[in-house]
Amino acid sequence: MNIAIVGAGYVGLVTGVCLAEIGHHVVCVDNNREKVAKLRQGTSPIYEPGLEEMMRRLVKKKRLTFSSSIQQAAKKSEVIFIAVGTPSKKNGDADLTYVENVARQIAGCMDSYKLIVEKSTVPADTGKRVQRTIMLNLPKKYRSGKNKVEFDVASNPEFLREGSAVEDFMNPDRVVIGVESERAETLLKEIYKPLKAKIVVTNINSAEIIKHASNSFLAAKISFANALSQICDHVGADVLKVVEGMGLDKRIGRSFLNAGVGYGGSCFPKDVDAFIRLSEKSGYEFSLLKEVRQINEQQKRSFLHFIEDKLWILKGKTIGVLGLAFKPDTDDMRCAPSIDVINGLISEGARVRAYDPQAMENAKKIFKKGVTFSQDAYMMAKGCDCLVLLTEWAEFGGLDFKRIAKGMRQTILFDGRNMYAAKNLEKFGFEYYGIGRGV
Ligand code: NAD
Ligand code: UGA
Repeated sequence: MNIAIVGAGYVGLVTGVCLAEIGHHVVCVDNNREKVAKLRQGTSPIYEPGLEEMMRRLVKKKRLTFSSSIQQAAKKSEVIFIAVGTPSKKNGDADLTYVENVARQIAGCMDSYKLIVEKSTVPADTGKRVQRTIMLNLPKKYRSGKNKVEFDVASNPEFLREGSAVEDFMNPDRVVIGVESERAETLLKEIYKPLKAKIVVTNINSAEIIKHASNSFLAAKISFANALSQICDHVGADVLKVVEGMGLDKRIGRSFLNAGVGYGGSCFPKDVDAFIRLSEKSGYEFSLLKEVRQINEQQKRSFLHFIEDKLWILKGKTIGVLGLAFKPDTDDMRCAPSIDVINGLISEGARVRAYDPQAMENAKKIFKKGVTFSQDAYMMAKGCDCLVLLTEWAEFGGLDFKRIAKGMRQTILFDGRNMYAAKNLEKFGFEYYGIGRGV
């Protein structure tokens, strides 16, 4: 099938590459010309394992192209996915400016049937608004009469995670399609047929809600684990054992119960906010979700207080930060907990050194001063008064702590992701503090 994807970011690019991989002809469109130029040279603008190689292979096979023109792409595609950003407004609402903008542009160049699919995460009712926007912006001659151009709008939310995006897209737990016509349902089922995935068909509003509800539920699981971690610290219990014991109950499940320094990323924080706002507008006070958000903020603050308590004085201390990205295997710094933690340390007068395998370029744009970036964990640790682990990159699991300890001024480690076992660090003289480990 000929498919256009508008927005070649973390979701659009992965979607485009993977749809080309399963046999479609895909054009990825982005209005950031620099990005398009990079993509045309065979370079992925984001770090996502496996993506760049796959992208190059599919370009060679002529199944994947890149463009900065919606018009050109829309002309030759029957199906157009919208995968632009839907960031938070100040009041927590999803900002749908980019979605509207793209819908208008698509409408302006439609001269034959198109299926327009929302891939971006959007609040319920957006599909209806996209439909209306297209209707209002169709060239007059195509609105009615014998030249009338038919079109459908559908919702097809995306559930991939950064860091395992290709794998998640190719092996989804489910594909959700929100449709209002048989034609749209048939087309979307045809597109996803090669994945042999479980397909959930519903109306557009339900599909939109499934996405917000899924992200909010996962965020709630994390906040539940983080709340438990606070209690565990006080009563001398180990949160890792507690969630292991809970998670073996199939109704609960072990995943997304890792206590830590809080969830971040471009989606959980903004989608929880947007879902709270949608509920408010629907006349329902979703106080459960407000608490989920509040626990997440509190978790970052209490980690900072804990560090301060153990170090006593932060002013003038050198703190080495292991990991900056909001999670491992990505270069994404959007809403990374490292931002709040590092800013908190700096505001107390600490000197911060940091190392991350992929996110330092993006981090440099956020921390303009107060942070020194190192080429590796060993160089970073030299002369530090403590280490703070904020992202559980696999390479940190293999660090030589004997070597690290030698260069440090004080051997203390605060493990914001419960990556290490205390006994493995204590043997090299470290004071070890995890989260909710009963200290
Ligand atoms: P992103 O910022 O990485 O990508 C968005 C892209 O859209 C950018 O490259 C931008 O230049 C482009 N764009 C904006 N306006 C445009 C226009 N008028 N024409 C062409 N291109 C335009 O964002 P993202 O992380 O890929 O997220 C996109 C959407 O997908 C969001 O709604 C997000 O919630 C959702 N989502 C993201 C993830 C994820 O893991 N990042 C997962 C599931 C869903
Ligand atoms: C999340 C969802 O998992 C995806 O299904 C969804 O498609 C995506 O949001 C989206 O809508 O953008 P992502 O943000 O890429 O994916 O990463 P996650 O693995 O969900 O992690 C999010 C944050 O939660 C990270 O900061 C991570 O460290 C934290 N987390 C995760 C925990 O603190 N504990 C856990 O047990 C799991």
